[in-house]
Amino acid sequence: MDRYAVFGYPVSHSLSPKIHRQFALQEEQALTYEAIEAAPGMLEDALQSFANSGGLGCNITVPHKADAARLAARQSDAVALAGAANTLCRRQGAWEAHNTDGLGLLADLGALKWTLAGRRIALVGAGGASAGVLGPLLDAGPAQLLVLNRTPARAKELCSRFKNHPRAYCLGWDGLTVAAQFDGIINATAASLAGERPALPQTVWAPGAFAYDMMYAAAPTAFLAWAGAEGVQARADGFGMLVEQAAEAFALWRGVRPSTAGIRAQLRPPTPSSNLR
Ligand code: ATR
Repeated sequence: MDRYAVFGYPVSHSLSPKIHRQFALQEEQALTYEAIEAAPGMLEDALQSFANSGGLGCNITVPHKADAARLAARQSDAVALAGAANTLCRRQGAWEAHNTDGLGLLADLGALKWTLAGRRIALVGAGGASAGVLGPLLDAGPAQLLVLNRTPARAKELCSRFKNHPRAYCLGWDGLTVAAQFDGIINATAASLAGERPALPQTVWAPGAFAYDMMYAAAPTAFLAWAGAEGVQARADGFGMLVEQAAEAFALWRGVRPSTAGIRAQLRPPTPSSNLR
């Protein structure tokens, strides 16, 4: 059977095997999908033995996204800009790198009916997670896209990579004014992993703003809990993005984009009392 996998460290908590096996069942595709642990620095060897044993494609998660981009023989434009890959396809005996995180995020924002076009958006964080979604976010045509980061130099470096982008409304951050307000704030920092939130001022929320945390968790992240306490009604974590980026990867491998409704409901049944899915 055709073989697929996710590589990460750690990787045992990954929902990707469940999601892709469900997609395969739904689309009647004969394939296997497993989680493979590769320690930092070991991705190249792990990918080689996977390819030797017939591996056709894989997802790449923390901490290997930058290595995956670097190791691939060919990179999509999104990967070249982001310097990070989350999906690899085996084509003509070599790895081709893609990044489906941005499309996954846009698909989830679309499912939530939260628009970006013409709105003031802040993307918080300037690591690999932000780099992967910045291009597609800019393509969606926000009026302004401000990259905010605890360490301003990293925000500036990330923005400089996108300076030729036709909608590069992206700015570095060296101090937010009190007047700075956003219609949507997307948290792409690793703060949530540590149970922390980025130290943004209370004044950042425009009326009707949305709060999106790219991390997913059973309980609201510190960022979403804070947004809720500030009165932000529209809040979501990255569960939907996880499923949607997987659907984009599946489409690259198998030529068909699976419907995501079934797996979304199966893994996270809607709770009528909550805004969080
Ligand atoms: P990833 O690939 O997940 O983005 P990364 O490259 O290590 O990981 O980047 C982590 C991001 O989260 C950075 O933007 C980091 O801010 P700094 O550049 O200032 O380090 C941000 N981050 C991590 N912990 C944070 C915290 N407690 N508060 C605010 N930002 C945090």
